Amino acid sequence: MDELTELEKELTARVAEAADLAALEALRVEALGKKGRITQKMKALGGLDPEARRAAGQALNEVKTAVSDAIDIRRRGLEDLALDARLADERIDVSLPARPATMGSLHPIGQTIDELVAIFGEMGFAVAEGPHIESDFHNFSALNIPPDHPARQEHDTFYLPEDSAGERKVLRTHTSPVQIRTMMDGPPPYRIIVPGRTFRADHDATHSPMFHQVEGLVVDRATHMGHLKGTLTAFCRAFFGVEDLPLRFRPSYFPFTEPSAEVDIAYGREGDQLKIGAGSDWLEILGCGMVHPKVLANCGVDPDVYQGYAFGMGIERIAMLKYGMPDLRPFYDSDLRWLRHYGFLPLEQPSMVRGL
Ligand code: PHE
Repeated sequence: MDELTELEKELTARVAEAADLAALEALRVEALGKKGRITQKMKALGGLDPEARRAAGQALNEVKTAVSDAIDIRRRGLEDLALDARLADERIDVSLPARPATMGSLHPIGQTIDELVAIFGEMGFAVAEGPHIESDFHNFSALNIPPDHPARQEHDTFYLPEDSAGERKVLRTHTSPVQIRTMMDGPPPYRIIVPGRTFRADHDATHSPMFHQVEGLVVDRATHMGHLKGTLTAFCRAFFGVEDLPLRFRPSYFPFTEPSAEVDIAYGREGDQLKIGAGSDWLEILGCGMVHPKVLANCGVDPDVYQGYAFGMGIERIAMLKYGMPDLRPFYDSDLRWLRHYGFLPLEQPSMVRGL
């Protein structure tokens, strides 16, 4: 019995310390193999008398069970270790730097439109749109510009070939036709801005055959010149970020507004830097006025009940002034260097709360 206890102790201790699966297998063969030490003892049982055989057999079986259990436990332990080692070995380093992602940037025109929408949106204006190819009626006649009016010459209009109905459509020369479309579409009140493309046959450092304007139209029962001045003053100050920006409303003429004005903002130069709001010179930035009663009537709006104002400004022009861009032409060149320099982060939407 003592011998068996010793044997079990020795074998289970060595099993528990087996260094790897091969060493464990060698131990299993040594103990339980065909010629193993426990197997040999099992075989020797045959020589004993039945009484002694049963007692010795039982004890031997316990040793055998203890040793084979120890082997199973150690095997699982070694397998786990082997798996851990393999996993550690095959680990993929996901912390490797990813390939650089290239991020585009917003074109200054898109950015400026977003800013306009943020500012006028805060004041309750909705955004309206209209077609680039316009009828003569919407672009001119309804705006109180009859066929022989000299203002038509000033617009350098692109005319399309006559269509089957004998009508010559035009590429809209300003966003003002959307005033007409808005008013003919339903009853007042109106409070809209119209950012969009416009076209004139004109090309030099400050003119492009395609450019952008933003139109504004407000019509209600008691809308007056004070609202026009207040709205445009608040807009210019918010857009240029100059709180006390001086504005000048200079009498002017447009066929579709009466009275009409052009708006200048104060500026000065420091070296070759343009300083908006500081200095004694004036820059013209937009045209505006009270909507002409004839225009209201042309659209079915009763001028004895309703009145309002309209304005229009060049988007490139105010973008160039705000962001210090000296030349108009690169706006349409798609030169990536220019876009990277003047472009804006796409995920930073301008808002009146977070800043423009
Ligand atoms: N449509 C005019 C232009 O293109 C601008 C304007 C719009 C003036 C609305 C007055 C009112 O020059």
